[in-house]
Amino acid sequence: MQAASFLEKEDPLQRAHRLAKRRVALLFYESSTRTRTSFELAAKGLGADTTLVSALSSSIEKGESLKDTGLTLRALGAECIILRHPNSGAPYLLDRVTHLPVLNAGDGMHAHPSQALLDLRTILHRLRPEHTNAEIDESTLAGVTVLITGDILHSRVARSNAELLPRLGARVILCGPKALLPECASEIGPGIAIERNFAHAMRGAQVVMMLRIQKERLAGLELNLNDYIAHYQLNAERLAENAPRALVMHPGPMIRGMEITSEVADGPQSVIEEQVRHGVAVRTALIARALDAMPELVSA
Ligand code: CP
Repeated sequence: MQAASFLEKEDPLQRAHRLAKRRVALLFYESSTRTRTSFELAAKGLGADTTLVSALSSSIEKGESLKDTGLTLRALGAECIILRHPNSGAPYLLDRVTHLPVLNAGDGMHAHPSQALLDLRTILHRLRPEHTNAEIDESTLAGVTVLITGDILHSRVARSNAELLPRLGARVILCGPKALLPECASEIGPGIAIERNFAHAMRGAQVVMMLRIQKERLAGLELNLNDYIAHYQLNAERLAENAPRALVMHPGPMIRGMEITSEVADGPQSVIEEQVRHGVAVRTALIARALDAMPELVSA
């Protein structure tokens, strides 16, 4: 967080010297709008040359392995690889075979760490005392309840947030029907509770984070989408009745009319666009750290 704030305030010309002439590769096996674009903007903002390799327009389509793709990018001069991959654990494999810093841009149903960090930054910015000019304080989450609702089963975003936020003192409540939220989810870590009743879960939450229903992964699950909407959709009435002051978050992409209504997504409590904006600052810091381009913070 400190590095993100430092780099965000830095003169852009000075920032662009940090990684001048260095090469960062974006290797995306799954589609992405927010993560890919913000990592790319972040790397470019640091002055790096970037290249994008996506599964559908590269030799991956011809069957080239992750290992060989990584070694090829390294041979072409990449010093850092940002990877999105459908298999959990793929970034560890790539790190092991290339010996390059690998940043996880989402792996399977496992983790999406940079998303959790930008979510954290959004929450910290919004919950800091409004009347002070306080620097972002990483202990601010003590006493804060974050409700995460929806397709927890398939969500790498939920998993990363449920691991990160309690470390800073937040209470995390996971909410959803059994088909999308197995009881064992509470074992992700300490500070996590499960609540099936959405309205009940919303009361007392300072943050209501909605997740996309991943329709592509619902085959075989006992889930009726109309029932889901009836019980778990975040609509204006539910929000006004149960959490009229809570921040409304969504990592995107959202399916309007499914997990959230347009009225709420575009409403005054929504910080969804802010989340996207924080993505650039957070990912700038991650890339700078991965390539040792932050000497002043190491010596601080
Ligand atoms: N939140 C998120 O990962 O969005 P994208 O899939 O568009 O990157």
